[in-house]
Amino acid sequence: MSEASGVALALAARAGLPPEFQYLREAFPRDRWTSGLDETAAFWLQMHAGFRAHQAHMDGLIGQWRAGGDAAALHRQLIPALQSFLQHLDGHHRVESGQYFPMMRRIEPRIGAGIDLLDRDHDAIHETLEALFQHGLAFHQAVTGHARDVDDRGHRLSDVVEAAARPLLRHLEDEEDIVIPLIQLRGLQG
Ligand SMILES: [Fe+2]
Ligand SMILES: [Fe+2]
Repeated sequence: MSEASGVALALAARAGLPPEFQYLREAFPRDRWTSGLDETAAFWLQMHAGFRAHQAHMDGLIGQWRAGGDAAALHRQLIPALQSFLQHLDGHHRVESGQYFPMMRRIEPRIGAGIDLLDRDHDAIHETLEALFQHGLAFHQAVTGHARDVDDRGHRLSDVVEAAARPLLRHLEDEEDIVIPLIQLRGLQG
């Protein structure tokens, strides 16, 4: 892979899957992802819907705070939401990269490079999860320690939460474009 195409495929810069990884979605397009989906595919979409909703919930809490809410309320609501988000997303990625992706590489070797891309996304998102954890902890400690920089810590955490949304949503969508048709068309018994 050239350096230029590597950059274009990076999660932060990507606008969608490159054409060579779109053949599965073309064979089973999104308008057919309706009732009657394979159970695992349906569950996958349900998990992703949960992460989208969770991200939107956190963005909403931050929006309320930025519009004049108080830091104590943000702390009370955002920290548990963030903890649960980090835990579930990390667990989800472990199952994908550890169990499903190796299986999918065997079932559909042609999409191997696409699975590589999704694995690299997980690495990039993992770094973001680490940053979210650290900023969440710093905000929590500032609030519980009655520090003078509570607002500053809150803004820094909020910036990281908001910045994490775009790449995460990109990953969820691109991953679905590979795994949902793959499960539906090839099954997972290969
Ligand atoms: Fe993923
Ligand atoms: Fe996923």
